[in-house]
Amino acid sequence: MSVHKLNIVSLIRKKRDNEELSPDEIKTLISAYAKDQVPDYQMSAMLMAMFINGLNDEESAAFTSAMLYSGEVLDLGSIPGLKVDKHSTGGVGDKISLLLAPVVAACGVPVPMISGRGLGHTGGTLDKLESITGFNVNLDLDRYREVLAKHNLVLIGQTEEIAPADKRLYALRDVTATVESIPLIAGSIMSKKLAEGIDALVLDVKYGSGAFMREKSDAIALAQKLVKIGESFGKRTLAFLTNMEQPLGYKIGNWLEVEESIDGLRGKGPDDIMELTYVLSGAMIYLGGKAASISEGIKLAEQAVSNGDALRKFRDIVEEQGGDTSLIDHPEKYKKPEIVHEVKARDDGYVFSIDAYSVGMAALELGAGRRSKEDRIDPVSGIVLEKKLGDQVKKGETLAFLHTNNTTYLNTAETLFQKAVVIAKDIPKIEPLLNCRIDKDGIHESITQ
Ligand code: URA
Repeated sequence: MSVHKLNIVSLIRKKRDNEELSPDEIKTLISAYAKDQVPDYQMSAMLMAMFINGLNDEESAAFTSAMLYSGEVLDLGSIPGLKVDKHSTGGVGDKISLLLAPVVAACGVPVPMISGRGLGHTGGTLDKLESITGFNVNLDLDRYREVLAKHNLVLIGQTEEIAPADKRLYALRDVTATVESIPLIAGSIMSKKLAEGIDALVLDVKYGSGAFMREKSDAIALAQKLVKIGESFGKRTLAFLTNMEQPLGYKIGNWLEVEESIDGLRGKGPDDIMELTYVLSGAMIYLGGKAASISEGIKLAEQAVSNGDALRKFRDIVEEQGGDTSLIDHPEKYKKPEIVHEVKARDDGYVFSIDAYSVGMAALELGAGRRSKEDRIDPVSGIVLEKKLGDQVKKGETLAFLHTNNTTYLNTAETLFQKAVVIAKDIPKIEPLLNCRIDKDGIHESITQ
């Protein structure tokens, strides 16, 4: 069907009235939009109709496929082994990719990782990697293949060739209040991941105050949709539902998170970081065919950390992609922020809740994130938590240190942080970090099978 034959108004009306769009209609619409043949005002109306009425499984598959084939779909067949990647739906302090990618690669599974930048209150792997002086995330696709073949690992950003329709549509969704839709998010994530040339995918779908999906039921629905789309493209897809009620680890901010990841690769990371790294790595090693089960994959991942292979792999990839390896060997030598501001507890009691969204926004105010697309990230700024959920505190004790080079928003950040942390007399009930595992057969309480 050509766009000239496609009556956009009738398609919008169809979706508005909750009727089903055919795969052909979706494909023609998306490819025409990617070529600038559909104006933003009509696409905005269509997005809102999709947001309100949703997409069924067939429509979702067609939507994903249309975005996937709007650009290049990489063929990594010349590189031996099953290629596996991980995607997280985004959180605060979520630096797991920095640990897991070298762990899995060190276990013999090729990891072709294409990551994003920070979005709103959530951080992004690319910004974290770029805090390592010299690290180049902008490799072309030939170099991407070359680095992957050499190291079993490559870490880059989305290129112009990868799912260009998603790039345009995402920008439009951002300004038309149509981001938080399960089928639109699922199509957006999966089109980019499927374009990487992977054979299998592990998903970390987050719920709670720091996640895009605050409700567990929404996160489950998103995970199910993502798994269904992945499997419909013939890729084994496993999702884990994880708790984002409080930030992951103790450090939030770009270089701070690299520093905490190096601790983790040395086997000395915080418990939540190590647990999530090992489970997600174990699942990737299993899907990559190097372990007979997730549990066996977890053991291999633990060994790769304890014998130093994972840290060496990280150092190798930093060197290959132009980064300063002396910072990996001596992270303490990194430049320091001009201001390190102490935030003190105002009451005695227990840390009862930490609103991860507000902590993420406080880090953004300090310079760790962007208020607008043009904003520059300050790599040293961010937050170092001294207390986490359930910890006992005394009035006047340190809750956190705020790191920044700019005092303009320090007060705003401190206010956000103070509001985010609730201290109460009662010890809170802390939910497990990993909630359940979702695959094509359904939802499983057991994380490792
Ligand atoms: N991340 C994406 O890549 N797309 C979305 O729609 C939301 C989060």
